[in-house]
Amino acid sequence: MAERIEVLLTEEEVDKRIQEIGDQISNDYAGKQIHLVCVLKGGSFFMCELAKRITVPVSLDFMSVSSYGGDTKSSGVVRIVKDLDESLKDKHVIVVEDIVDSGRTLSYLLDMLRSRGAADVRLCTLLDKPDRRVVDVKVDYTGFEIPDEFVVGYGLDYDQKYRNLPYIGMVKFD
Ligand code: IMP
Ligand code: MG
Repeated sequence: MAERIEVLLTEEEVDKRIQEIGDQISNDYAGKQIHLVCVLKGGSFFMCELAKRITVPVSLDFMSVSSYGGDTKSSGVVRIVKDLDESLKDKHVIVVEDIVDSGRTLSYLLDMLRSRGAADVRLCTLLDKPDRRVVDVKVDYTGFEIPDEFVVGYGLDYDQKYRNLPYIGMVKFD
């Protein structure tokens, strides 16, 4: 069945909001250095755009966990596919995610990262689907709260497609 993509958030809306979060983070971390941890692949577009708008010193690292196949539902199984290159010791870490859905992935990931001796670990997500939460996760910076729709674009995929859309779209199957 062919799917159709409906715009939920335009490129302009997303860019404007990322600038606001960048300003807020730059303000909150004044005088400090930030270590951004990107959760691949979905968080990559957001992290790059966000990093460009942060005015305090920033270093970057990447990790990859798997919780999704070609399906639209989280399996709850979290596996580290690629771990970080650098130590988190004494760093001001911000985990950058594309979306918090059930919260299973992030809950596991944040617990694991917090055990690695960072000065602090915060969470920044472009999108949040609060209605879908199964595991409680504290989100420090949120781009947009969105309804319970399967979304793509800005790094988010449906079966590895649509990550490159410069806006957030809803996948429709009618
Ligand atoms: P959670 O563990 O259920 O919170 O799932 C988080 C991960 O599932 C995200 O990082 C995404 O990779 C993926 N995911 C959740 N909802 C969506 C969606 O609407 N579109 C695309 N990927 C999603
Ligand atoms: Mg993700």
